[in-house]
Amino acid sequence: MKITSDMPLNQRTQTFLLLLLSWIGLVTAYKTLTNETLTLLPRPGNDFNIHHGKLLAPILKPRVPETGNSTAVRNHFVKFFHDTLPDWKIELHNSSAKTPLSHQKETRFVNFVASRDPPEVYPGNVGRLTVVAHYDSKVTPKGFIGAIDSAAPCAIIMHAVRSIDKALTRKWNSVHVAADQQRHRKVEGIQVIFTDGEEELGDGSDPGDSLYGSRALAQDWASQKYAQGSTYTSRINSIALFVLLDLLGSPRPRIPSSFKETHDAYQHLARLEIRLAELNLMKSSEMWGTWFVDANKRTEELYPLGITDDHVPFLKHGVDVLHLIDYDWRRGGFPEVWHTLDDDAQHLEMAVVEDWSLLLTGFIAEWLELEGYMDDRDEMAGR
Ligand SMILES: *[C@@H]1O[C@H](CO)[C@@H](O)[C@H](O)[C@H]1NC(C)=O
Ligand SMILES: *[C@@H]1O[C@H](CO)[C@@H](O)[C@H](O)[C@H]1NC(C)=O
Ligand SMILES: *[C@@H]1O[C@H](CO)[C@@H](O)[C@H](O)[C@H]1NC(C)=O
Repeated sequence: MKITSDMPLNQRTQTFLLLLLSWIGLVTAYKTLTNETLTLLPRPGNDFNIHHGKLLAPILKPRVPETGNSTAVRNHFVKFFHDTLPDWKIELHNSSAKTPLSHQKETRFVNFVASRDPPEVYPGNVGRLTVVAHYDSKVTPKGFIGAIDSAAPCAIIMHAVRSIDKALTRKWNSVHVAADQQRHRKVEGIQVIFTDGEEELGDGSDPGDSLYGSRALAQDWASQKYAQGSTYTSRINSIALFVLLDLLGSPRPRIPSSFKETHDAYQHLARLEIRLAELNLMKSSEMWGTWFVDANKRTEELYPLGITDDHVPFLKHGVDVLHLIDYDWRRGGFPEVWHTLDDDAQHLEMAVVEDWSLLLTGFIAEWLELEGYMDDRDEMAGR
């Protein structure tokens, strides 16, 4: 479309506005939710119950790579997506590596990946909001559960994607995504990665002894090239934003902003937290104030913390990373229970876990521009 001078003025204005709107869509692609929609965001209810909750309880056990428990937890993810989110594509990404545990053999790692692309768009033209946590747990101390590290983050992500799935269907049924793509509007889907082998398996003396699953995945996705002329060159290049959740579920979260490239996304989250709190929808924030301690900083004031986590192999390929990890240098770094037997179900602050699930749901809905599609009530009434 172009603006020609023989169009009537109001048509020219209209055309200009349309162009402007599509340009804004391309550049920002972030649409805040209304107060009403925020109040409608689904809550996890009993699904986070630590004894028999459908989402969280099955993850609250030791999950060392290659053990039966690790397989059981992975099967829990597979079953959840298969039964609850049938439009998602499930992949198991396998790799193996020599580790301090494996002696002469190799240890096998299996990442769980679930994704949902808009219909009828070539995969190389789809950017993907990518939400990530690791599902493996530490070998030592024996019996270590890793409730914040990262059982709770996995359950939070499961709740969030379940909460936006119907809205995605409604949006993709009502707007013609393939035509949007031809008009060079940004087209985005979503994917979830639960990584294996994030924790080190040895005594900490080998700096390469961790991030096994994410390293293999980043490498494989960098070599999965899309056809020439696609919007994205490779699968790793199609990651719109890599949102990594780790060590979440302790009281008084303090989340630093680590990367200037994603400080705007961080600020969107901070704004959302405040809005949810103002609407009295957060159960915990009144007690501890805002979690996003760097929200008012300018990008020049940020400094990378140098935390080794699953984002590192992706960062090396130029992926934009939003690292949601609880870290506060004033209290000595990570949450108190970190890497101890106290990181168990009983030490989770459930109000915080729930609030995280609400916040992540809202963030994903805003990122994917689902305002206007989040309301399930009409559908319910129609039945
Ligand atoms: C597997 O999980 C159960 C709890 O569901 C636990 O009692 C058992 O010790 C775990 N096994 C291993 C090998 O970690
Ligand atoms: C990875 O291994 C599992 C079996 O554990 C298999 O079902 C799956 O298809 C494998 N994934 C790929 C991509 O080959
Ligand atoms: C949304 O809610 C906030 C907090 O209650 C309020 O200050 C604001 O005016 C509301 N916005 C609209 C458009 O109603």
